[in-house]
Amino acid sequence: MSDWVDVAELADLSRRRKKLVTVGETPIALFYADGEVYAFADACVHKGRPLSRGTVLHGRVICPGHQWAFDLRTGQADDREECQPGYPVRIEAGRVQVRADALTPAPLAPAPLVQE
Ligand code: FES
Repeated sequence: MSDWVDVAELADLSRRRKKLVTVGETPIALFYADGEVYAFADACVHKGRPLSRGTVLHGRVICPGHQWAFDLRTGQADDREECQPGYPVRIEAGRVQVRADALTPAPLAPAPLVQE
């Protein structure tokens, strides 16, 4: 059984490009790039800095801690073995929803932006 949680307005995220949300005690970093939405664990897999304060550039998010660059589609760090964990994400009626109970080693496919 899936447990999708409504966390943000798509229009707001598309303007800001990134947003920190929390589900229960869990901080989740949302990113918007090239028309798609991605959800990652906010704590960087390297040393735990907040990825939500990173910079989105060329399909990657660059961590503010030590500038590791993570591919938004896969979570894979450039030139490293580490992968930033992520969450399934979907768009429903202009709202961003995540499954905070389904942290994965790497994000699943990005959410298609199907508007109703
Ligand atoms: S904490 Fe993110 S690169 Fe070091």
